[in-house]
Amino acid sequence: MIRDDILTLLNNTEDFLSGQEISEKLGVSRTAVWKHINSLKNMGYDIESVNNKGYRLLSSPDLLTADVIMSYLKTDFIKEICYYPKTDSTNIRAKSLSAEGKPSGTLVIAEEQTAGKGRRGRAWISPPKEAIYMSLLIKPDIDVVNASMLTLIAAMAITKAIKELFPKNNDCFIKWPNDVVVGGKKICGILTEMTTEADYIKDVVIGIGINANTKKFDKEISDIATSLYLAYGTNVNRAELVALVMEYLGRYYEVYLKTQDMSNLLDEYNSMLVNIDREIMIIENEKEWHAKALGINDRGALIVETSDGTKKEIISGEVSVRGIYGYV
Ligand code: BTN
Repeated sequence: MIRDDILTLLNNTEDFLSGQEISEKLGVSRTAVWKHINSLKNMGYDIESVNNKGYRLLSSPDLLTADVIMSYLKTDFIKEICYYPKTDSTNIRAKSLSAEGKPSGTLVIAEEQTAGKGRRGRAWISPPKEAIYMSLLIKPDIDVVNASMLTLIAAMAITKAIKELFPKNNDCFIKWPNDVVVGGKKICGILTEMTTEADYIKDVVIGIGINANTKKFDKEISDIATSLYLAYGTNVNRAELVALVMEYLGRYYEVYLKTQDMSNLLDEYNSMLVNIDREIMIIENEKEWHAKALGINDRGALIVETSDGTKKEIISGEVSVRGIYGYV
């Protein structure tokens, strides 16, 4: 769409772009450029127009609509974006959109969820606009047993994107297997759900909740949860973050698909792991035990070492992992 293409051009330059340049680059008339610029202004984009210089984007409306995200996306991994100002849960939406025939690479995004789902049947409180609630629908041709590693690559993509947007801070890590933490507090949770038929995968939905610009948390969770705003003192451009996460997710997914395991991503994953070489508490069927985390293996299991030197594999989904003194 021409309007999206104009937005992409404006987003990717800090300088003025003349109407002539835009019209040549996109092969449309200058009148068409002018019309689309006006429609962007009506959508809430603050675009400066100066005679003999052209147009410059000063600010974007803080919305996660398809065209805003598309204007930042530098990957063809995402085929379609379905945006909802309000929905029950983007995971639920993604599953029904899949059943309606939406393709692999559909990104479902909402400003607010009324029935956001967390892991272990918990609710994911999803007030409007400050955070990011999104679910990526994929239809991978992989073995069912390998699907849990998709959560790990999503965590890598989120961590990588946050590090890129906040390069001065070096405190964003993965808490195996489902969380991303900043400064030791949870900033993001991932809920991956799979639909199978007989022994093949119909679809996988990777649900991602990122506390982006959340200003305050309830007392009960403020010790373990934070947001990018609270941690780094500045509002993040949510659309840019979404686009970057999808770009890295696409790249890691491609690598993962070659072997259907973590073998080619192992070192990078372990370098992002918050628990590495630390003592952790493993909670398994109401039993708790301590061990040192050594990193993940090719299959995405966490390898730990107990005090007598025995090494064990922890499989995600069966256990919960905590730090000894706090969340990590
Ligand atoms: C967790 O318990 O840590 C996982 C939370 C996952 C929340 C996200 S928000 C977008 C997507 N839709 C949902 O209903 N849940 C996930």
